[in-house]
Amino acid sequence: MESSAFHLRRNRFSTKEVAVKMRKSFLLFVLLFSQLIFVKTVYSDSREIYDRKCAGCHGIEGDGQGPGISSIYPPPRDFRTWIFKYKSTPADYPPTDEDLFRMVKKGIPGTAMPGFEGILKDEEVKSVIQYIKKFSMFETEEEEIPVVKIDGIPKLEPSAVERGKKLYKEFGCPKCHGDKGRGDGPRSQELEDDWGNKIVPRNLTKGWTHRRGSSIEDIYITLKIGIPGTPMPSFLEALEEMREDKGIEVESNEFEKDPWSLAYYVHSLQEEPNFGTTSRVKYVDKLPNNPEDETWSFAKPVRFHLIGQVISTPRNFTPSVEDILVKAVHNGKEIAILVEWDDPTRTNLGSEDKIAIEFPITFERREKPFFVLGNTDNPVNLWVFENGGFYEAYAEGVETLRKQTNNNLFGSWVYENGRYHVLFKRLMNTEDEEDTIIKPLKFLPIAFFVWDGFNGEAGLKCSVSTWYYLIPEGNPSDKIFVIPILVVLLTFTFEVILMKRIKTNKK
Ligand code: HEC
Ligand code: HEC
Repeated sequence: MESSAFHLRRNRFSTKEVAVKMRKSFLLFVLLFSQLIFVKTVYSDSREIYDRKCAGCHGIEGDGQGPGISSIYPPPRDFRTWIFKYKSTPADYPPTDEDLFRMVKKGIPGTAMPGFEGILKDEEVKSVIQYIKKFSMFETEEEEIPVVKIDGIPKLEPSAVERGKKLYKEFGCPKCHGDKGRGDGPRSQELEDDWGNKIVPRNLTKGWTHRRGSSIEDIYITLKIGIPGTPMPSFLEALEEMREDKGIEVESNEFEKDPWSLAYYVHSLQEEPNFGTTSRVKYVDKLPNNPEDETWSFAKPVRFHLIGQVISTPRNFTPSVEDILVKAVHNGKEIAILVEWDDPTRTNLGSEDKIAIEFPITFERREKPFFVLGNTDNPVNLWVFENGGFYEAYAEGVETLRKQTNNNLFGSWVYENGRYHVLFKRLMNTEDEEDTIIKPLKFLPIAFFVWDGFNGEAGLKCSVSTWYYLIPEGNPSDKIFVIPILVVLLTFTFEVILMKRIKTNKK
């Protein structure tokens, strides 16, 4: 795709190494192993469970070298080491059986580690856990293990969140997680795990991506233990680093005095997931002019899933943008669409980070174009934000993408604390043949492409969504929209009466 719009750039940054590891075999691997993992059977012993359900990733010897592993990030755990990430014991102690049981049952969100709930019985999980323990030094005589145990969470008054906010700053969380928790701290792009892989801080606003879990209890344990094998410190390690940074003896340990307030605060950063498939476009009298306009509070936000584009080369196996939040309003003449997504690295004043919204040009036939830039007989209209500017593009297939000569699109944007807020505004009917016409009360397919320049994304290497829908509301004061509803109701009543008559006649 050599067009001016999404021109290819060479990848310059290093998540590439990770992407290279994941290439090609990934889909094949998923296909092969999903068969093995999700089939229920009766097993003769724990070894058989392990060999059938776990060894494909964790290796027959428990060394994390299963046949498919070159394609997985983060890689499957090497059970010969002591390193377990989501346990309730300090870094240099082995996990408890309950820790292992929990992770095997529930799986680890955002990684290849599947949950075995409903696939293995509880006794089977327990026996396979005993089996994997044999790979490590677990067999050696265990001393007393200091387990973090929680006996319910204390009810805190609302001011605790404020205290937690102070602790969040004081203990250096923003260095990695950023001021608002969006993973955009100054150190966020320089971190590596103990195996030498690039690793990024979690976006704390997205509870659904948390690997141990997103409840207040889960966060509390994460703070007590840290995430062994990664730069995510335990609270005591964070305290130690703070002492070093400031070069002073920090007398009291504020966290130990008030341990739950930080967990409460971190939990309070989480946003509603609001995942959906359709965005209702609210009718308003006056359209908003910028992403901060108060009118947006009337619009219902909907979050859409995005995935790395892996259908055409160059493929994207490590997308950095995995969802996008959409709000939309119209006034009968113009439509305004606000899209918001998190990108911890703003590159070149928004020049390499960009977004395109895609619509079919016509949707009368109810047939959607191919979601990656349409087809010859079903072209698409794209609204693009690039280099701080807005323009429309046309495509009827990947090779044909071009900027349109008539640009009817306006916009305005803000980037702050690791988040883009981009507002697109256009006439609903421009009378331009290459433009989608947007009509009230008609479902309109909509799809998205997002690029994170820092992640080496350019051209077709991007995040992409499947087709979702917009449905613009009718003008509430407009009788035209009431009449069809009345007609439907009357017809329905008439039919019911008719059916009853027929029934009584039959009797
Ligand atoms: C499709 C690949 C795959 C399969 C199959 C699989 N795992 Fe995993 N497992 C992973 C990956 C990847 C990780 C590392 C996740 C991370 O680092 O966050 C992991 C991590 C783990 C962990 C470490 C949890 C922690 O707290 O650090 C345990 C325990 C585990 N797996 C047990 C099992 C068991 C038992 C089975 C079989 C019943 C199994 N896994 C099957 C991919 C897999
Ligand atoms: C040196 C960088 C760094 C600092 C400082 C840091 N974190 Fe993290 N944090 C990380 C990384 C990296 C991860 C993701 C690890 C992974 O992918 O397994 C993470 C993950 C997390 C998670 C997600 C746990 C889960 O279940 O997925 C939470 C919650 C969290 N950090 C909270 C905090 C808080 C609160 C502080 C301040 C006390 C803090 N972090 C300080 C780097 C850091």
